[in-house]
Amino acid sequence: MDELRHGDLFVSRALRLINNSTHGTTLTEHWPTDSRYTRGRTQVFVDVKTRLMDDLTNFPDYDRMGRFLERIKDNGIDVKGRRIADLGAGYGSLAIAAKRRGAAQVVAIDAVADRLDSLQQRASASGLEIETRVANLLTPFTETPIADVAFLIGVVEYAGLWDLALTPEELQQRIFHTAFTALEPGGTLIFASKNRWWPSFILRDEHTRQFLVDALPRGAADRVSRMTRGTPYREHIHSPKVWRKMILDAGFSRATCLYPLFNQWFPLTITDRPTFGELRRIIHQSDVPADMTRHVLGRAPWIKGGLMVASSTMGIPMTHGVVITATK
Ligand SMILES: C[S@@+](CC[C@H](N)C(=O)[O-])C[C@H]1O[C@@H](n2cnc3c(N)ncnc32)[C@H](O)[C@@H]1O
Repeated sequence: MDELRHGDLFVSRALRLINNSTHGTTLTEHWPTDSRYTRGRTQVFVDVKTRLMDDLTNFPDYDRMGRFLERIKDNGIDVKGRRIADLGAGYGSLAIAAKRRGAAQVVAIDAVADRLDSLQQRASASGLEIETRVANLLTPFTETPIADVAFLIGVVEYAGLWDLALTPEELQQRIFHTAFTALEPGGTLIFASKNRWWPSFILRDEHTRQFLVDALPRGAADRVSRMTRGTPYREHIHSPKVWRKMILDAGFSRATCLYPLFNQWFPLTITDRPTFGELRRIIHQSDVPADMTRHVLGRAPWIKGGLMVASSTMGIPMTHGVVITATK
């Protein structure tokens, strides 16, 4: 918990900087202009962006995770009429998007009460009913399962910060087990995280902003981190294959890796087999606003997308992220 409290302090400081530097930019539905906050350098990097993008006062109708849910629906999983658990819900973009899309019930769970308070404010502003629960996902559910579909998006990579006595992988495994206990038999887990082998992460880790730690063996990365930042390296991300194995080890019976192009936050497609035809389609699709193309597609979409497609075809996906759907 201490680590997260420290993180929250950092968030508020960083937010002040961001508010000074980027307020006044426009956010359009689905398409945040803020692609990267380069001044942040700790594990809460993503949260800083999340909070900016979820800003209640300025953008109450902003539907950040709506696009993600639409692409998951393309893969045959619809939230409509289902009981949803959003595990590590944060400020609630997924929970709110699911309720907007007709989920029968949404339970949003997070360890940080402030975030759930913001979530509740956002939900009430939109007239949506969402149940919130403050809980640590390292502890499994002992009551009756609460969901048919559980989302675990951008959470497990922080597990290593919760208890220095256990390895990050042991802690991550516990969270997958908690997700298992949240679900009815036959229920579905939707997990999303980053891929350790995405070239820019290999060069510089997304969470810690450290060079090469994702490429090095974990022990060496930890030593580098202690020398250069004075803290252990525990924000482990994995390859799709390793994430999938952890999910199966938690008891899930089937797990399928899907690849979001170009990333899991603003996916133009989420597919088990990215192809060049699909790449051509998404690069030329018309619903990316002109001023957003650089943020969504990047500067060299054919090179970036080409690498993702070619490497996936060869069975060693070097995608930015991975989405895994698994059945209990
Ligand atoms: C990067 S945010 C992701 C939020 C949200 N899922 C999204 O995609 O916008 C990670 C969230 O996980 C929560 N979290 C991390 N570890 C947790 C744990 N062990 N138990 C409960 N919540 C946790 C944090 O408080 C934070 O709100």
